[in-house]
Amino acid sequence: CGIVGYVGHADGRGNAGHSALDVVLEGLRRLEYRGYDSAGVAVVSDGAIESRKKSGKLSNLRAELEEHPLPETLTGIGHTRWATHGGPTDQNAHPHLADDGKLALIHNGIIENFAELKLDLVDKGYKFASETDTEVAAVLLGDIFRNQLNGNADGGLAVAMQLACQQLEGAFTLLAVHADQPDVVVAARRNSPLVVGLGEGENFLGSDVSGFIDYTRRAVELGQDQIVTITADTVEITDFFGAPAQGKEYHVDWDPEAATKGGFSSFMEKEIHDQPDAVRQTLLGRSDLNGNLTLDELRIDPEELKKVNKIIVLACGTAAYAGTVAKYAIENWCRIPTEVELAHEFRYRDPILDENTLVVSISQSGETMDTLMAVRYAREQGAKAISICNTNGSTIPRESDAVLYTHAGPEIAVASTKAFLAQITAAYLLGLYLAQLRGNMFSGQIKDVLADLGKIPDKIQTILDGAGPLRELARSMANEQSVLFLGRHVGYPVALEGALKLKEIAYIHAEGFAAGELKHGPIALVEEGKPVFVIVPSPRGRDSLHAKVVSNIQEVRARGARTLVIAEEGDEAVKAYAEHVFYVPETPTLLMPLLTTVPLQIFAAELAAAKGYDVDQPRNLAKSVTVE
Ligand code: G6P
Repeated sequence: CGIVGYVGHADGRGNAGHSALDVVLEGLRRLEYRGYDSAGVAVVSDGAIESRKKSGKLSNLRAELEEHPLPETLTGIGHTRWATHGGPTDQNAHPHLADDGKLALIHNGIIENFAELKLDLVDKGYKFASETDTEVAAVLLGDIFRNQLNGNADGGLAVAMQLACQQLEGAFTLLAVHADQPDVVVAARRNSPLVVGLGEGENFLGSDVSGFIDYTRRAVELGQDQIVTITADTVEITDFFGAPAQGKEYHVDWDPEAATKGGFSSFMEKEIHDQPDAVRQTLLGRSDLNGNLTLDELRIDPEELKKVNKIIVLACGTAAYAGTVAKYAIENWCRIPTEVELAHEFRYRDPILDENTLVVSISQSGETMDTLMAVRYAREQGAKAISICNTNGSTIPRESDAVLYTHAGPEIAVASTKAFLAQITAAYLLGLYLAQLRGNMFSGQIKDVLADLGKIPDKIQTILDGAGPLRELARSMANEQSVLFLGRHVGYPVALEGALKLKEIAYIHAEGFAAGELKHGPIALVEEGKPVFVIVPSPRGRDSLHAKVVSNIQEVRARGARTLVIAEEGDEAVKAYAEHVFYVPETPTLLMPLLTTVPLQIFAAELAAAKGYDVDQPRNLAKSVTVE
């Protein structure tokens, strides 16, 4: 979910004087990628709370506000929801009101003991209007404020929040406003994202900095289990027991322009086209003038890294496929056994790890709860943790021993594209760094790989420029029911990613397989006219993989499949068996995913657009899933 809070100054000092509603709606627009099942706002006006909420995307809320406007005020909160408890209805949308409508609360996360708390509150005579855990938190907070603190307006809301948080279990960010304290927003965070934005005569809260990027670049990181109270002039942080705490201020160096569509039909199209730059930026500053790799930013003791005897890559979704690509490269370059594990499976299987295990988490947002929990668990077991992340100051890098940032820029479309290529690039750098440190590769070899990586951005551009026929094919396939993807070696995670993109945004059944597995089952799915993408390894490769995959193409074709082949420029052998071949420029085998993924992204985006779907905000998904 996305969360925004704002308090401005009555006399309009400095930059202040914005209307709370405008600030909150602008923040929600930027945060909508975090969830779009419903949206809602509350403002404090003349000793009362006024709230509007609506199921569906933010545009529905805007329409509601046109019909039933809210007053211009100085204090407000807003929420855009990804449903967990209770369906995406108007009723279940946030804010939730309590204390006879004088208190409004919004929430991100899951309150695990809500059923228990609800029973107590029902016993006290409270009635509930929704099925959500959030309403329980709101009623609890209202009850404490009114009955335990006697509605002590002066600082009462912050104290009530402390007392409420002491009772809540689970993960949550909560933001509350109260009619009796009209110039305050109080927020709490446990294992769920929240940052403060510092203005002049105004202050902000957001799930991430995009919630207030249009107004200020000064942000404050909060720790876990902290409560923050903002007014127009002050920011006060405490723990859940009222002890004062300090936040860490940092400067946001994002260009808000980077978070616009820049003339493209969708964010996803724009981000696909950003990829040469995303890879370039991720490589930038990571080698010296002589072409030697330098990763000084990786603040982790090199002696510790030399001792590593096992690597576990932890991630979810697309990031996990980047991890699978990393596995092939790291094992090849460093000779360290490397596993890739879906973060949510990891800690529930009693994994074997110790202080010589290096855990590498990969996360665009740095907030994915499954990944965060896995990293925490690994560190508790003594493992070292490196985070590969695209979001400065987010939770996972903060809770890791070291971080290697990808510099893909803000990724807004829910389906990941440029972050994926940047993650793979960063993972390569990490692999090369470990190989260098441990003496597995000569510096000349490392330089060669870096030089090959340096050529990737232009090669991606070549693919983008020549995508016309691929787009045409995609448009002609809008009515397909099912598409298969086959790949081998590093082509295997590419096949998985190609299938995931199609599922996510075009809602077409799609599956990726290791091509060698075909004969062990999946080939039964092949029938006349079934589209099968095949990612073919380079014919220049040392082993016989190319020939094996070409055989796989023949096998599916013999059974009636339409074969759509991604191959390396100059690979003439595949032509005879392919209905369509899409060539990518030559590059060493291990780096090929940076190229072969791109046609599959374009294919999915074009096909989804042809079906008339919202490519950036596919149904049921959210970009950053901050619940387990
Ligand atoms: C969500 C998104 C995916 C993404 C995954 C991991 O499920 O819909 O696109 O790959 O989370 O996100 P992260 O921010 O950790 O990379």
